[in-house]
Amino acid sequence: TTHEEPKDVHWSFEGPFGKFDQAQVQRGYKVYREVCAACHSMNLLSFRNLGQKNGPFFDEKYKNPNDNAYVKSISKDYQVNDIDSETGDVVQRPGTPADKFPNPFPNEAAARASNGGAYPPDLSVITKAREEGPQYVYSILTGYVATPAGMEVPPGKHYNPFMPGDMSAFYKGKGPVPEGGFIAMPPPLEAGKVTFDDGTKSTLDQQAKDVVAFLAWASEPKQTERKQFGLAAMIYLLIFSGLLFVSYRRIWKNVG
Ligand code: HEM
Repeated sequence: TTHEEPKDVHWSFEGPFGKFDQAQVQRGYKVYREVCAACHSMNLLSFRNLGQKNGPFFDEKYKNPNDNAYVKSISKDYQVNDIDSETGDVVQRPGTPADKFPNPFPNEAAARASNGGAYPPDLSVITKAREEGPQYVYSILTGYVATPAGMEVPPGKHYNPFMPGDMSAFYKGKGPVPEGGFIAMPPPLEAGKVTFDDGTKSTLDQQAKDVVAFLAWASEPKQTERKQFGLAAMIYLLIFSGLLFVSYRRIWKNVG
């Protein structure tokens, strides 16, 4: 299969000193909530994660993310399944920060039935699951183009040059077979789809970058802490080796 190389995007969270931009992951959450969550699950994420250190809605006022008022209000807007402790029946109740994000569909068959047979993958670790994940997801979201002349697109499919695929059987046009493949996801974003609370202009590019930042955070919520810890460890080792070197010189000063 072939596909175009993902677009070259730079992120605040890349490199050894990178960290998530809280305003950006907040906007990205809104894109996920209002657009992607209609079809994609987020199985590994609980509401309380949103209020953890370096999370989109972290607020140092709250020691425990379960107490975070904004996270509470977000979780209350979802209905989650629970078991009635008296009758044993499955019941629905408003979410709490301790709950996981509920799935948009009751099961895979229902998800496929609503999506022309295709299964919208869980997005919890999508930026880790795909090579060059953040660039790849950004490229898919912004990469839909008009169907090239001579290409036959099956019903329910969309041509995207960044999706791995093989167009040779579908291309009757002149010139080389276009790179890329078909994807069952209709273009989910367009300019102005989501209104950002912080006044940021809602272009396609901005929404795609922000939702990718959110998904990258969700794939590794402790990334910033891990990097900061690593940096502190490097500084410690540097000072320690300096001390070792000085004491080595002292111990051997009068020898030989
Ligand atoms: C596939 C992201 C919204 C339905 C995908 C893939 C990603 C993705 C990364 C995987 C591509 C791959 O397999 O490598 C997103 C994001 C969204 C969004 C970030 C919000 C901005 C939606 C919506 C729907 C949807 C609203 C339903 C209307 C699907 C389906 C697939 C898919 C059916 C499987 C496609 C296939 O296998 O051909 N999405 N998606 N997505 N998405 Fe979405």
